[in-house]
Amino acid sequence: MKKLKLNQLARKDQDLIIAARKAADNAYAPYSGFAVGAAARTMDGTIYVGSNLENAAYGLGLCAEVSALTAANTSGDYDRIEAIAIVGFGFSPRMQVSEVVAPCGRCRQLISESAQLSSIDIEVFACSGDLKSIEQYAISELLPHAFGPQSLQLSNPPKPLSVSLAPVDGGEPPQRSLIDGSDAGQVLRG
Ligand code: THU
Repeated sequence: MKKLKLNQLARKDQDLIIAARKAADNAYAPYSGFAVGAAARTMDGTIYVGSNLENAAYGLGLCAEVSALTAANTSGDYDRIEAIAIVGFGFSPRMQVSEVVAPCGRCRQLISESAQLSSIDIEVFACSGDLKSIEQYAISELLPHAFGPQSLQLSNPPKPLSVSLAPVDGGEPPQRSLIDGSDAGQVLRG
């Protein structure tokens, strides 16, 4: 773990942290009064952000990291992440901006899965709300001896792309279309 100040970091890491800080402003966290923002960066520099989303049924709440990683996955980038920043602060009933927020256990597991897919030991920047305190970790440090795809001998997990539905963008036809196959009954037709 390294303790750092924002201006000691590379520009791209500062930008990532600022993106996470901005995402925290959109947190829906009326029950905890604690806002969290996360920003995940791929190896080609794309940034996906997320904020925590709570619910009146308390147990259904989603962490900011879940949101950011889900956004990355939706664009096909869950296996291309190299760094993630997390910023959190209390806003109700009192402001609390000086404590570093490190990912919860479930989020460490989700980050670790991404790291195993890409073989990148993802950098995690855990930051206080005022960005005055930053701790930098590798995910293997936050979640050592992790269970993951490798534990299930899935070093190259299959993706659904090769068996997707008929092309929607005029591209090459998929290798195997569900519409042509015996699963056709499950396909929604326009
Ligand atoms: N939270 C996150 O979004 N990420 C974490 O890693 C820790 C906790 C959220 C969940 C909940 O909405 C609020 O912070 C208080 O726990």
